[in-house]
Amino acid sequence: MTALIKFIHVSTVILSYALFFTRGLWMIQDSPALRRRWIRIVPHVVDTLLLASGVTLAIRIRQYPLVDPWLTAKLIGLLVYIALGLVALRLGRRRSARIAAWVGAQAVFFYIVAVAVSRTPLPFASMF
Ligand code: HEM
Repeated sequence: MTALIKFIHVSTVILSYALFFTRGLWMIQDSPALRRRWIRIVPHVVDTLLLASGVTLAIRIRQYPLVDPWLTAKLIGLLVYIALGLVALRLGRRRSARIAAWVGAQAVFFYIVAVAVSRTPLPFASMF
């Protein structure tokens, strides 16, 4: 069962990134595709599944944010990713700010993946 939930988690991770990346390209091109009905709904469904599967996995392996540092880092990373995503696709006024937020959100996203794989809040620390 845990393997299935992990599969859902990792699948929604990939889908969430693909959708965010594509929506950013459409934002840069000022494309009307961004306003299509499905593109306003599907990312929310995927991101909800991503969060729900993450929380379920945490419960199943009995490790929790605010208790286990790598999950605290993931949760904080997720909040920053959401905030930057909002600036990139909705709240940002200037185009340059939107693009900067889009790039920053992707950096945060890959930080979260690195934290997940290494299970440490400072996955790149050994490089220095
Ligand atoms: C953008 C947000 C997230 C991304 C990109 C992400 C990414 C990943 C990835 C790639 C893995 C697989 C790691 C591996 O196989 O070595 C993973 C596992 C995991 N994630 Fe997430 N995750 C996110 C959000 C969350 C959240 C919010 C939670 C819980 C609060 C969570 C809890 C977990 C747990 C507990 C595992 C380990 C499962 C196991 O090894 O049994 N994730 N995550």
